[in-house]
Amino acid sequence: MKWVIQHIKQLVNTRTNSIVVRGAELSQLPIIDHAFLVIENGIIQAYGSMHELTTEHTSGAEWIDAAGASVLPCWCDSHTHLVFAASREEEFVHKINGLSYAEIAAKGGGILNSAQKIALASEDELYEQAMARLHHLMKLGTGAIEIKSGYGLNTANELKMLRVIKRIKETAPIPVKSSFLGAHTYPLDFKENHEGYIKQIIEEMLPVIAQENLADYIDVFCEDGFFSVTETKRICEAGIGYGLKPKIHANQLHASGGVELGVQISAVSVDHLETMNDSAIQALSKSTTIGTMLPTAAFFLRMPYPPARELIQANAALAIASDYNPGSSPSGNMNFVVALSCIQMKMLPEEAINAATINGAFAMELDREVGSITVGKRANIIFTQPIPSLAYLPYSFGTNLIDKVMINGQFI
Ligand code: NIG
Ligand code: FE
Repeated sequence: MKWVIQHIKQLVNTRTNSIVVRGAELSQLPIIDHAFLVIENGIIQAYGSMHELTTEHTSGAEWIDAAGASVLPCWCDSHTHLVFAASREEEFVHKINGLSYAEIAAKGGGILNSAQKIALASEDELYEQAMARLHHLMKLGTGAIEIKSGYGLNTANELKMLRVIKRIKETAPIPVKSSFLGAHTYPLDFKENHEGYIKQIIEEMLPVIAQENLADYIDVFCEDGFFSVTETKRICEAGIGYGLKPKIHANQLHASGGVELGVQISAVSVDHLETMNDSAIQALSKSTTIGTMLPTAAFFLRMPYPPARELIQANAALAIASDYNPGSSPSGNMNFVVALSCIQMKMLPEEAINAATINGAFAMELDREVGSITVGKRANIIFTQPIPSLAYLPYSFGTNLIDKVMINGQFI
């Protein structure tokens, strides 16, 4: 099937080469005004300005009139906990009443609460729930996603979560990456026996994960009260031994050295970054590791936002993602992530869009498939409602301006 999409008001993030954008380059968002786009068998074949459209482009094609819509590559959401068994709005109310995220976790709420619910759910139930969430997100423009385990916290339930993610990967129409986050928190019976749980991760879980090809990445919640830098390093190195690259939760609540460790072990990304000091900013900015900021988690937990401007100034490569999870970001709407990045982190619309598309793709090593309008990439694209300019997207936060979404060249 061949499509020619004509009369696109603005065709956004057109790139001949797929490269990670860092520092000042983040504000360079290539756009073609009044453009066409040719898609064949779900893949981008050609694009350009309307006056460059030739019969070679159009022969044998069906026409789609974009009628003034702008077209963007789909959002690449590189950090989610999409598989979970139950919402946690009771903790939301506790937070309104004054408890902190750490206090709720210490009372057995938080991640442990989600782990209890996962233990009771079947693979089928978890799969159905997660697929329903995924379809909702695709309609909001998400065209590639990473999903973590981490609510299992024992061998059987971590493997259960990862098998669910594998099934999503095999059946979803968009690219999916899987991260093993067995080290999300210490389960209650291992609170005083860190060694015992780390051994379970390394000796029981990892060998099966590798054997069944259940994960692409190894993740650890590197944080005071969760996994120390030394523990994180040991777990990541064990994962690396099984072919999993690190992508870690770092510097959310404290600047405890997680970012520096991530850089040292060549993590694909270090994620969160609410609490950055000079050493962490410098380490990240001089590395190829991507800094993934999760502004909706900071918003929901009423925490300071990651210092996006300082990181851009220091030349870091930055992505933004939703962190969709029932505890700290119960929304996977990337449109709001983009808006919040502009409103609260003072990112320019161009910077936020690059961070949510091309750099998000790099943060999942999907840069050859998605993240920009590039010949040979998947036609996973967003059609906006008529908008006066691109800045209107984050400006009118909370309004759904996604008119249609195409995945692999087909409207969903
Ligand atoms: O990325 N920070 C750790 N993990 C999640 C929260 C998980 C939860 O509360 O269920 C996060 O914010
Ligand atoms: Fe997370």
